[in-house]
Parts: sequence; structure tokens; C-alpha cells
Amino acid sequence: MKGIEETIGEIGARSLWHPIKQHQGLQEKPMVPITSAEGSYIYAEDGKKYLDGIAGIWCVNVGYGREEMAQAGYEQLKNLSYLSPAMTAPSTAKLARKLLDTLGMEGRVYFTCSGSESNEAAFKIAWQYHQQSGEHGGWNRKKIISRYRAYHGNTLAALSATGQAERRIGYGLNAPGFLQVPPPYPYRRDEHHTVEEHGEKMAQWLDEVINFEGAQTVAAFLMEPMISGGGVLIPPDSYIPAIRKVCDKHGVLLIFDEVVSGFGRTGTFWGHQHWNVKPDIVTCAKGLASGYQPIGATIVSEKIFNAFLSSETDLNHLRHINTYGGHPVATAVALKNIEIIEREGLVENAAKMGAYMREQLDELIEHPMVGEVRSKGLLLGVEMVQNKETKEAVGSDVMNKILGSMKEDGVIITKNGNTIPNLCNVLVMSPPLSIGQAEADQIVDTLKSALLKLV
Ligand SMILES: Cc1ncc(COP(=O)(O)O)c(C=O)c1O
Repeated sequence: MKGIEETIGEIGARSLWHPIKQHQGLQEKPMVPITSAEGSYIYAEDGKKYLDGIAGIWCVNVGYGREEMAQAGYEQLKNLSYLSPAMTAPSTAKLARKLLDTLGMEGRVYFTCSGSESNEAAFKIAWQYHQQSGEHGGWNRKKIISRYRAYHGNTLAALSATGQAERRIGYGLNAPGFLQVPPPYPYRRDEHHTVEEHGEKMAQWLDEVINFEGAQTVAAFLMEPMISGGGVLIPPDSYIPAIRKVCDKHGVLLIFDEVVSGFGRTGTFWGHQHWNVKPDIVTCAKGLASGYQPIGATIVSEKIFNAFLSSETDLNHLRHINTYGGHPVATAVALKNIEIIEREGLVENAAKMGAYMREQLDELIEHPMVGEVRSKGLLLGVEMVQNKETKEAVGSDVMNKILGSMKEDGVIITKNGNTIPNLCNVLVMSPPLSIGQAEADQIVDTLKSALLKLV
């Protein structure tokens, strides 16, 4: 046991267990603590400043250090510091209404504390809905189909819906009834198909799987509108409308996981709003309060909610609770967050700055290791390959070199690490939606210079 002369870095290195990180050797070389943040920048104890090109974990949509966010939390803490989710707090009711309005739908909002819990609640709602609804209903509708490459959370059902093999290794097999289909992946598609045909084919794949499984055994299809952590996969325009049709044909609920794509990230308020489709259930978290508070939500259509209405005694109500779901402080901060997003036009800024960054990133295609550049708004990815003909992915050594060099130069971005065997080769950027041109330039220029060091 060391004395009081220990630094915070040292205390952290022998006390903290960080996620997704090998700790061997960490104690000998502790990480430098991050002590403050402002706008798009985080500041380390040693005086270094980093542009946070991934907005925390894709969540700090309005940027760091907003006084009015802190004030909203403070006022709420003074006034009503906690309320059971079985009661109605003003900020919680207003936020529920606001979320439904942004979706343009009637329905109900169930609040959680994270994306994983939002998905977990969505599964239970889907199962119970089918049990209790006449149309397409039945006790058998239990299977949840999701997609390879997508991450949906760390709790056991959400992890079972996650289509990332490496995240599940060692934690047992999937919970029963969870299965995956491939997502559209235009870069690696069968080249006999156009991109749009590829989108239709991938929707047909879901149709076939539902047929083979037996539609009456399938509860829901869960998808991110654009796969984020799994490598920034943007679907062809044909895909999502075709998926909606497949789900309708089979009486399968369509759940959009908008944990990353919600709250303006992709240049529309919700990711699925790039296409003219209506979801049955939407799950969200991250950008809902821009990481200023831990909060998530599961939002369901009125049709689904109505299946839960009946007399007190027959147990048709949702038998699910989160002590901190709809926490009044979290909802007050989330309301302020949405007010800022709307007042400052951050959805429009995400579309504008996303297009600006994309234009410059497209120039990288000349680089021998850049296979493809993909983006929607401020969700951007660069797929790195060893060989442009064979599209063989680069290894983690190359990816780590790029990320290390960028960090050295003051910019943090990330990669889809520990997800898909042999395909952890996508550099990912998702800066705060409030970035300006100078910050966008800084990210792209730093990436360019890291890539130049490779050749
Ligand atoms: C698409 C998606 N869904 C769900 C989750 C889980 O969210 P949380 O970490 O808040 O549980 C994540 C987290 O990164 C995510 O990216």
C-alpha cells in the first residue's frame, strides 16, 4: 500500500477496472487523468488538450461544460431530487411528450438509465405485446432477430442480440431465441448487384429467415438505422423501407436502436428519419442528455401500449421497473439538452459539418490503405485495408498506430475494436454536433498526417 504521495493516475491504475481494456502493465504506466472538458476538448492533468473526435462514447452531442445544463440539474436537485418512476415528475412528463413529438407519433415512453436497459425493456415489451394482442399475437412469438456487426448492450439479452462475435466470447452462448442476419455492407457486397439491389437482397434475407423460423415464433427485428460501433455501415436507401414491409408482412415488430443515431447525430433528429418509415419501438440513451446524466428510454407506439390496458388483476400491465428510470434530474437535464439542440440548430450543423468533413475525407481514398469512406451526418468511418483489390483488412497494429499518432497530435478518434473477427479495421469519428469548421479541419488534418506516416 502506497502513501499519500500517490498520484490520481496511480490510485486509478491500482483501483479502477476500465471497460474493454487490457490492464497488464497499466500499473507501471498509469494513464494521465482527465480533469476537465469544455466544448469539444478534454483536458488532461499534465496540461495536454485533446479534441474529442468521438464525443465521449458517441454521446456528448452538445459538447462539454454547458453552464445551463449544470444549472438545470442543480435547480431540479434542489426542488425534487428524486421521485419514484411510479409517480409523475413535471420534467419527466414533459420529456416523454417531447420525445413523442420529435418522433411524430403517439405512444408511451418508458425511461431507463442506459441503452442496454432500453433494449432489454423493448424485448420484454415486444414479448408481452404479442402475448396480449390479438393481431399476429401468441405465446410463441419470442424470437428476436437482429444483425451481425451491431452492438446492442452489455446486459445478457442485449448482448445476445449483439451481432459481434468477439464481444460474446467466453460469456456463454446466446440466450435462447436470439439470432442474427447480415446487414447491408455495400463495400463488400456481391458486385453483381447494384448498391440498391444489395439493400433489397439483405431485406429479403430477413424475409427468408422469418419464413424458415416460422413467423409465428418471431417477436421483433432490432436494428440500428446505421450500424455505428460495428464499423459505420450505412444502408442503401432501399433497405429500411423494405425491412418495414417485411416486418409488416409477418406481424414482426420493428425496433430501431437509436442509442447512437438519435438526437441529431446523423443529420436528422432520429436516424430512421432519413427514410419514410415508422417504427413500432425506438430505444435511445447517449445523446438524450448528451452524457450529462445517465438516461435512456424505450418509446412505443400507441398500438403496442394499448395491448397492456386491462383490469388490475390480470397482470397485463408491464411488470418491469428501474429505480432510477425517469429520474427527475436526468429528465430535466435531457429537456435542456434537447432545447439546446433545437435552439442552436445542431441537427442541421451535424448535416452541414458532416458533409464538410466527408468532402475532405473522400480525398483519402487515394491513400493505398483506405478502402472506403462512409458517413451519415457526423457519424463517419474509414475502412482500412492492406490491399484494395482483395479488400483484406489491416491488423490492429496499423489501427493502433493511427490512433496513437492522432492522440499524440491532440485528437482522439476510435476504431471498431474487439468486435468482428478479422474486420476490426474501421476508424470511427463522431465529434460533438456543435463542432465548427476549425475543429473539423483539425480532425481530418490530423488523420491525414497519421495516414501519411504509414506509407
Ligand atoms: C447502438 C447501441 N445500442 C446500445 C448500446 C448500449 O448502451 P449503454 O452502454 O448505455 O448500455 C450502445 C452502446 O454503445 C450502442 O452503441
